[in-house]
Amino acid sequence: MANLSTKFLALVAFSLLLLSPLDLVKAQVPIAPGLSLTFYSKSCPNLESIVRKRLQSVFKDAGLAAGVLRLQYHDCFVQGCDASLLLDGSAGGPSEKSAIPNLTLRAQAFRAIEDLRNRVHKECGRVVSCADLVAIAARDAVVLTGGPNYNVPLGRRDGLNFATANATITNLVAPTSNTTTLLAKLAVKNLDATDAVALSGAHTIGSSHCTSFTERLYPNQDPTMDKTFANNLKDTCPTPTTNKTLDMDIRSPNLFDNKYYVDLMNRQTLFTSDQDMYTDSRTRGIVTSFAVNQTLFFERFVISMLKMGQLGVLTGSSGEIRANCSARNSDNLFISSVVGDEGSHASQF
Ligand code: HEM
Ligand SMILES: *[C@@H]1O[C@H](CO)[C@@H](O)[C@H](O)[C@H]1NC(C)=O
Ligand SMILES: *[C@@H]1O[C@H](CO)[C@@H](O)[C@H](O)[C@H]1NC(C)=O
Ligand SMILES: *[C@@H]1O[C@H](CO)[C@@H](O)[C@H](O)[C@H]1NC(C)=O
Ligand SMILES: *[C@@H]1O[C@H](CO)[C@@H](O)[C@H](O)[C@H]1NC(C)=O
Ligand SMILES: *[C@@H]1O[C@H](CO)[C@@H](O)[C@H](O)[C@H]1NC(C)=O
Ligand SMILES: *[C@@H]1O[C@H](CO)[C@@H](O)[C@H](O)[C@H]1NC(C)=O
Repeated sequence: MANLSTKFLALVAFSLLLLSPLDLVKAQVPIAPGLSLTFYSKSCPNLESIVRKRLQSVFKDAGLAAGVLRLQYHDCFVQGCDASLLLDGSAGGPSEKSAIPNLTLRAQAFRAIEDLRNRVHKECGRVVSCADLVAIAARDAVVLTGGPNYNVPLGRRDGLNFATANATITNLVAPTSNTTTLLAKLAVKNLDATDAVALSGAHTIGSSHCTSFTERLYPNQDPTMDKTFANNLKDTCPTPTTNKTLDMDIRSPNLFDNKYYVDLMNRQTLFTSDQDMYTDSRTRGIVTSFAVNQTLFFERFVISMLKMGQLGVLTGSSGEIRANCSARNSDNLFISSVVGDEGSHASQF
């Protein structure tokens, strides 16, 4: 562990050394109306350095970075990038965070965003939204684990309402999905096959619980999975519901790189939604192109992150700037919610 952590810190130091405006990937993605690259340049000029410095000190390995990066996907895909994911219900009331059992988002990642908000608001006042903090923190999670740097369009405002549990289930992609389902769910958001392959590349860092993939092992083993890899998974997850986690990228779990695509070509990824992209002829060529060219993957990943990060944003006078990422301003105590009663959805996303 000490070794891993040392390596990680060395990597962080290295990637920061390399940071300069020249290393920014300049992607050709239109900036959504109401957002801008200079949104806080007067009202909170140190915003991005406050966030970067803080995350640099709290990311001890790639685990928390992965948790933070995943928050942006779950926020943006459901009801837009409005930080509704962060809302906490009072008195055990449901929220997106707790609506679906086994979402397995890291509690520590939610706390990291609230900690950033607290630091930023102390310096600048209540001008920066939680939604923007999620977007900046996700970018920094990528950079601090070795991935590409890019400018984040800012000016999102925070939503006032939870998404329904139904919307959450409908909009997120289950790990059991095949490529047809994956592409269909992304097409609704104007994301194409290249976006699907590029965004799934986020699985180059972080970990998964057994329950997210044991349907590929029990009762029958998925024939598209490498046999030795499957046996190793079974060792760690001897039953379908073993409560353990595994690295998602076996080659370089703590590095944001293109090895996930090499894993795919070797049939050594955890989810059907991952592996089927190498089986399906519509995405196979894209997988291969990223596996052989990390620069290409980084460029495409940035484009897709910029698209995802601007889905359904609230701007102008919509929404609000929350004083607490877990609660809307208007009623800190009671947040009404339309989230319905949900059955058990074992490890659905
Ligand atoms: C679109 C299809 C996707 C599916 C089916 C999917 C599914 C999953 C699942 C099941 C897990 C493991 C959860 C667990 O068991 O602990 C996971 C983890 C993760 N996902 Fe995805 N995901 C998708 C897209 C994305 C996107 C777009 C991003 C970000 C850009 C992302 C980033 C991550 C990260 C970083 C982790 C590791 C989290 C951690 O270590 O805490 N995923 N994903
Ligand atoms: C759930 O959401 C989908 C898509 O938004 C919609 O078609 C469906 O009617 C909703 N179901 C319920 C029970 O609200
Ligand atoms: C993909 O999954 C959907 C939903 O489960 C299913 O209807 C469809 O037949 C599958 N497609 C392929 C090509 O396996
Ligand atoms: C799984 O294990 C973790 C720590 O090992 C524990 O905190 C968590 O409560 C467990 N979850 C379940 C459903 O048993
Ligand atoms: C890799 O992709 C980059 C970015 O698109 C491109 O400029 C470069 O020529 C590619 N390298 C190879 C060896 O194809
Ligand atoms: C933020 O809101 C949550 C949810 O209402 C609450 O539990 C928490 O105490 C609040 N934090 C602060 C600092 O007021
Ligand atoms: C998943 O959720 C179900 C129902 O809430 C629960 O019984 C089960 O222990 C959970 N599993 C994990 C791994 O958290």
